[in-house]
Amino acid sequence: MPVIKGFSKLSKEAKIEWIVSNYMENDAEAVDFLKSYWHPNPTTQKLHDEFIENTITNFYLPFGVSPNFKIDGKNYCIPMAIEESSVVAAASKSANFWLERGGFHTEILNFEKIGHVHFIWEGENSENLRAFFENIKDKFYTHTHHITKNMQLRGGGILGIELVDKTAGEKGYYQIKATFDTCDSMGANFINSVLEEFSKILKHEIEITELLVGNEKNVQIIMCILSNYTPNCIVRAEVRAPIEKMSEGNDMTGQQFAEKFCRAVRIAEIEPYRATTHNKGIMNGVDSVVIATGNDFRAVEACAHTYASRSGQYSSLTHAEIKDGEFRFWLDIPLALGTVGGLTNLHPMVKFAYKLLGNPNAQELMKIAAVVGLAQNFSALRSLVTSGIQKGHMKMHLLNILNQLEATEEEKKTIVNHFKDHVVSYSAAVEIFCKIRGIEVPKVVNTKNNL
Ligand code: MEV
Repeated sequence: MPVIKGFSKLSKEAKIEWIVSNYMENDAEAVDFLKSYWHPNPTTQKLHDEFIENTITNFYLPFGVSPNFKIDGKNYCIPMAIEESSVVAAASKSANFWLERGGFHTEILNFEKIGHVHFIWEGENSENLRAFFENIKDKFYTHTHHITKNMQLRGGGILGIELVDKTAGEKGYYQIKATFDTCDSMGANFINSVLEEFSKILKHEIEITELLVGNEKNVQIIMCILSNYTPNCIVRAEVRAPIEKMSEGNDMTGQQFAEKFCRAVRIAEIEPYRATTHNKGIMNGVDSVVIATGNDFRAVEACAHTYASRSGQYSSLTHAEIKDGEFRFWLDIPLALGTVGGLTNLHPMVKFAYKLLGNPNAQELMKIAAVVGLAQNFSALRSLVTSGIQKGHMKMHLLNILNQLEATEEEKKTIVNHFKDHVVSYSAAVEIFCKIRGIEVPKVVNTKNNL
């Protein structure tokens, strides 16, 4: 396949032309197809074009909502952007279940971001470096005031700065570790700018100090970067109910259901194979809110899984207990979210999502995202320990199967009706579809040829 230089400099049309002529056998329909996903308003489209390099069209993702979430006594209709068919339905089911039991409760346990200047120092005696560092420490605050003053006015800024000796792992490796309150912004740009300034201060002060001599003057800055691991930026989302109120919608008593549910959580606490799937379900909910509100879901994912491994073994992010006749289920999750900056005041759908949520600040958004994660996990476990997951999943997936088969609206109606009291599977859907069309059921059902 061809290689091209200067692709990013081409116009959008020229980029499409190059792709279509080199990869789509000059198919004119491919051009129309790509353009059919352009926004009809050229100004809106330009906005999307400029989010990244080399945009050729838009990639749609469903934007759904889940109403009836009661969080700390306030009702929310929560926006969720996600492709997986059952996630919004599961969230809504859980929202309704807990609406009748007092809703969700949340708490911000701490709210701190972290960044490091990673550097190599050639001196032998780390105590000399430490003495020098303590001597100049104030300068890291005063000489970065031009960057931090606005954040300070908003109530945030640098919370702490320390020197960390990492030489046990790598010869000469030290860090300046700094903690920050970045208020309503996720804070990546702010933190990185401050850290880069720190590195200049460090280099300069080492050059002019009389406290260090000889090879103690040799410092190499390796990099300055925030950490996406924020174990001190934790939100707790929680539900509780008297045990007898836990029986609704299944054949078990409240006690039986709650005990089986707690067992399922315990399995995720001690078994990494289960914990991964269990936490994935939590992230179904968290990510959908994170994406709808224009936040960085890769950062949130990376952080959540590091946090889930903090004991040395990957484990569940949620916990459950039965105590004094009460069922309690909770999620502690690090969520470094922002409600200003980035895409938050640029992407039209993100702006809509904030309006729908009543323009929350970062801490309120952390609470909302955590609640949806907990709700998601509750629904998944509730199905898993009662009816099994496939009943609900396949019901939600049925329309995807029928769309793949290119069923007409009439056929869809009949087939959905049929599956009201039959178990959905891909082959069962194909079978009834073929029956309605009067065509032979293929021996091997193949998703590639739509059957
Ligand atoms: C599917 O996306 C998520 C679940 O597998 C989560 C779980 O098993 O807890 C249903």
